[in-house]
Amino acid sequence: MTIVNRHYPSTRLRRLRRQDFSRNWIQQHHFRTDQLIYPLFVVAGQKQRQPIKAMPGIDRLSIDLVLLECEQLLALGVNSIALFPVIEVAEKSWLAEAAYAEDGLIPQAVRRIKQAFPQMGIIVDIALDPYTVHGQDGITDDQGYVLNDITIETLVKQSLVYAQAGADVLAPSDMMDGRIGVIRQALENAQQPNVMLLSYAAKYASAFYAPFRHAIGSAAQLKTGNKFTYQMHPANSDEALHEVALDLQEGADIVMIKPGLAYLDIVQRVKAQFQVPTFVYQVSGEYSMLQSAFEQGFLSADAVIMETLLAFKRAGADAVLTYFAKQAAVLLKTVQ
Ligand code: PBG
Repeated sequence: MTIVNRHYPSTRLRRLRRQDFSRNWIQQHHFRTDQLIYPLFVVAGQKQRQPIKAMPGIDRLSIDLVLLECEQLLALGVNSIALFPVIEVAEKSWLAEAAYAEDGLIPQAVRRIKQAFPQMGIIVDIALDPYTVHGQDGITDDQGYVLNDITIETLVKQSLVYAQAGADVLAPSDMMDGRIGVIRQALENAQQPNVMLLSYAAKYASAFYAPFRHAIGSAAQLKTGNKFTYQMHPANSDEALHEVALDLQEGADIVMIKPGLAYLDIVQRVKAQFQVPTFVYQVSGEYSMLQSAFEQGFLSADAVIMETLLAFKRAGADAVLTYFAKQAAVLLKTVQ
């Protein structure tokens, strides 16, 4: 056998990998519990716990049960959540008026969580898809085209109501052009300068969102519709940098890439180029795909969950939105 490596045998990389202590010395990236963000689906009513078929292990919860969940999350060290509303069909409309009702589900949830757990960081989704009759993220014209500027006017109303309710972070997830700047200005005018904007800056038109759309009940509205006229094509990466650059200029505090695992190259490029807080959303389809393999016994949950989270870190993510937040927090208590 001819060995072509000129450094062998003086360099043997396996020496450091032989024992736990030296493997630990050289571990470059770590994941921390306080960088996990848990998404929660909120439904109206009392004592409601509705399993989501496409997301085994995740339920829609009424606010009273969301409060119990928050208590458990804080006990595990997960200090932040992202809220998504499940809106009844009767409340959906063409102009999404329910999105900015002051006594709407999300403002109520925010107020009650903040009252019970002021230390819990609350992120709210700014988008209209739970509230529209067609399940699109914005207001449409006769042709079904999502109108940019009119949609932004409604997003601003939604933002101000959610900020007033006490949300810490507004997360526009709709991919309308210019919405970060307009919302930032509206927050300034409303004397809300400390509300953070987490922009879903590079959000792809991904098929991995399907379980989420069942969870919030927009799938039945959307039917065969798609979001190609506003979300990004999965083939593009330069465009993601352009989107991020604009959102930062417009006043975003944090940018997010979504989905996660299939877009790690985007995470890496964004972090390398801008060095700003960069979050990743490990989305519903990524969760369901892995969770069903865990349930079948094809993959080992603990190892795979941690491997995906470390992959996000390695690519450059700061915090991660993940439906695995609770399991990950338990794992992080013991070993990384
Ligand atoms: C909608 C929104 C979506 C998700 C978060 N906000 C779905 C979509 O764009 O259709 C997806 C999250 C997930 O799949 O877990 N504004």
